[in-house]
Amino acid sequence: MADNYLERREEALRTAGRVVMRRNTPSLDSLLLRNRSHRAYDTSYVVAKRQLEAIVSVNTKIPSGRNAQTLRFKLLDAASGGADFCRFLHLGGYLPELHLPTPGTEPQAFIVVCGTAPETPVVDIDLGISLQSMALKAVEIGLNALIVRAFDRQAVRDALGLELEPLAVLAVGKGIEKIELVEVPSGSDLRYYRRDGVHCVPKVRLEDLLL
Ligand SMILES: Cc1cc2nc3c(=O)[nH]c(=O)nc-3n(C[C@H](O)[C@H](O)[C@H](O)COP(=O)(O)O)c2cc1C
Repeated sequence: MADNYLERREEALRTAGRVVMRRNTPSLDSLLLRNRSHRAYDTSYVVAKRQLEAIVSVNTKIPSGRNAQTLRFKLLDAASGGADFCRFLHLGGYLPELHLPTPGTEPQAFIVVCGTAPETPVVDIDLGISLQSMALKAVEIGLNALIVRAFDRQAVRDALGLELEPLAVLAVGKGIEKIELVEVPSGSDLRYYRRDGVHCVPKVRLEDLLL
């Protein structure tokens, strides 16, 4: 059910069989393409708490196994602990020699996703849906994001005084990396790499994904 006038009007037109073209609305494909994992950010850009809230708001609209909705979200902007939070995270595991993020490019805002229930495969599916939905929302509002699972949960829990288990972190900001997707056949080396200052991400081509 559409929740604002414009969407209600579009829904009515669609129901009447009319094609509705929305100007300035990015297609899903363009959001997906722009939704790259950035590991360097413009630290002069300050992400506001309301932007983080807008990103988390997607969680009121997404699917959830048994509709259990066990995820909860701790917001950190630069002023509330985000400025030095990156020290808990491990970025760019395939490029250890780069020690990412490079000093001066650390993300300053984060959404720490916690669980109210023990982590099960279903909770992890919910987590993936949530993280990707939030990353797409970040892109829609002109930001970028990075999903991070490589961190010491207990250290994060202690530092933030969390009563819930942190399952993942979404770093948010204005990404400054040049990132390209590289189409590859199945069975290729899928590790990302750097070439001439561009971060290259191999993606298996469609024909090899189909069974
Ligand atoms: C579940 C999950 C966990 C991830 N954890 C990390 C992480 O701990 N550190 C990191 O630098 N990137 C992490 N990433 C980002 C991936 O490395 C990234 O998605 C992959 O290299 C493909 O790049 P792309 O997102 O631009 O397509 C994670 C991504 C996912 C989906």
